[in-house]
Amino acid sequence: MSQILDGKKVAQKLKDELKIEIENIKSKFNRVPGLAVVQVGNVAASSVYVKAKTKAAKEVGINVFDHHLEETTDQNDLINLISQLNSNGDVDGILVQLPLPKTINEEAVLNCIIPEKDADGFHPLNVGKLSISNKNDENLMIPCTPYGCLMLLRELGIDLAGKNAVVIGRSNIVGKPMAQLLLKESCTVTTVHSKTVDIESICKKADILIAAIGKPEFINKDWVKEGAIIIDVGINRVKINEEKSKLVGDVLFSDVENKVSAISPVPGGVGPMTIACLLRNTTISCKNKLSIN
Ligand code: GUN
Repeated sequence: MSQILDGKKVAQKLKDELKIEIENIKSKFNRVPGLAVVQVGNVAASSVYVKAKTKAAKEVGINVFDHHLEETTDQNDLINLISQLNSNGDVDGILVQLPLPKTINEEAVLNCIIPEKDADGFHPLNVGKLSISNKNDENLMIPCTPYGCLMLLRELGIDLAGKNAVVIGRSNIVGKPMAQLLLKESCTVTTVHSKTVDIESICKKADILIAAIGKPEFINKDWVKEGAIIIDVGINRVKINEEKSKLVGDVLFSDVENKVSAISPVPGGVGPMTIACLLRNTTISCKNKLSIN
């Protein structure tokens, strides 16, 4: 039997800790962390994520500043909003939900968020800090999904050093920062992607396999080593019939479950961790500003 990495439970533990921290900040400084949530357009998945992030932030006592803009919003207007949020003293974290409409240059927008308020850890300065900082630096703005994956791995209580880790996917949001985090844990890290030759045989050597490709149930038991640890980052909605759909990961859970030593489920694995880590970043940003750290 494999161990199921229960993201809901681990995320709840982190949120409980943050709630206490935020109560302490409030009693000492008479303020709470503030998170600006910016969504442009109405991509259905983004609306679901934004709603979940907003709800979770409010639950731990973070003030949410909601900015839902039209699909046709001009890039300059979005950048002006970010400038206002950058200088708003009540806002500690800024989240611009991706993807943005095709008419807007994502990189240009993300680069306008000042690094101190970059709740997603996507700004080049934070990307660079993640790469060169030491493992124990707890005040960094780290991209939420990969940090959530690392927290799930840490739940296993095993030494990650020397483990053969394979990251499938090289996105700026997940794959690249995930590889950096695993490298800091002294794993031997390989990133595979759409142009990699014979991905399957590389994955088969992985002690730790991080699947972030966005292809429903793509990875089956032939791809994984006996006893491997699997973190499934995929959140794919698939149709069951004309009326019903369900969420599945990038890994065919039922196929690999009995071959691996631990696996994160979908839903209930990485998803809740991503949200909890966003709240962590916002709280860290607030603490950095108040010089609490
Ligand atoms: N879209 C998908 N994942 C993310 C994320 O972690 N942050 C933001 N801002 N947008 C996303």
